[in-house]
Amino acid sequence: MTNPLEHDVFWKIHRDLPREAPGSDAATMQALAMLPDLPTNARILDVGCGPGAQTLALAKATQGHITAVDTYQPFLDELACRAFIAGVGEQITPVQASMFELPFDEPFDLIWSEGAIYIIGFAEGLAAWRRHLKPGGSIVVSDLSWLQPDPPAEAHQFWQEAYPGIATIEANVSRLEAAGYRSLGHFVLPEEAWWTNYYRPMGARIALLRTQYHDNPEAQRILDLEQAEIELYRRYASSYGYVFYLMQAA
Ligand SMILES: C[S@@+](CC[C@H](N)C(=O)[O-])C[C@H]1O[C@@H](n2cnc3c(N)ncnc32)[C@H](O)[C@@H]1O
Repeated sequence: MTNPLEHDVFWKIHRDLPREAPGSDAATMQALAMLPDLPTNARILDVGCGPGAQTLALAKATQGHITAVDTYQPFLDELACRAFIAGVGEQITPVQASMFELPFDEPFDLIWSEGAIYIIGFAEGLAAWRRHLKPGGSIVVSDLSWLQPDPPAEAHQFWQEAYPGIATIEANVSRLEAAGYRSLGHFVLPEEAWWTNYYRPMGARIALLRTQYHDNPEAQRILDLEQAEIELYRRYASSYGYVFYLMQAA
């Protein structure tokens, strides 16, 4: 069985979507408003930026400069294009690099990462990125979290396989404190932000690709997997969600 990421149908599902994870401009703004004021011309790092919906929102809401990092060049190209159209191109520098080895010497006032820290791991990412933060600098991450301590078995099994590092909000707050941060608060992303910008457009794309790949069983298997994630959320949205965690270097 092919790793889904190595099959072109996976990248056709995840091409030209508004976002590559649940989120919304409103949630990005809510998190930004909960932070201490940023200095003028703040240096901001957006890790795992994808096509950059949150990068654009940050550029419009601040006077900062945002270095947007992702490993997948087509997302960075899309971000550059969107930034140019939105008139914020000069505030954003897309950089192809890995969150495991961030190639920056000068520290940042703010590190932002929506729906991407799971790749390196919540505690691991916070520990590794701390050296890229100025003293007193802040970090905002959104990460898939259990909203109840004892989730339904089906949801538990799915996410234990897909994201073994998933934890409750309380556990993640303890993890960020253990990594040397002071919590500035957290909030759960509203359910609508899963559907509007992510699962609804993704579901429409899956339906289209099902006909295009009707004679390709491997592609159909990958489409099934992606559809299963959507259906799981439809059933268990009260059990897990994306949570924004805000913190400051202690
Ligand atoms: C779930 S998407 C979230 C994208 C974006 N933040 C959003 O919310 O739309 C995760 C992103 O991380 C990127 N990524 C995967 N591995 C990475 C790595 N090692 N370093 C940096 N980015 C990575 C993917 O290409 C993808 O754009």
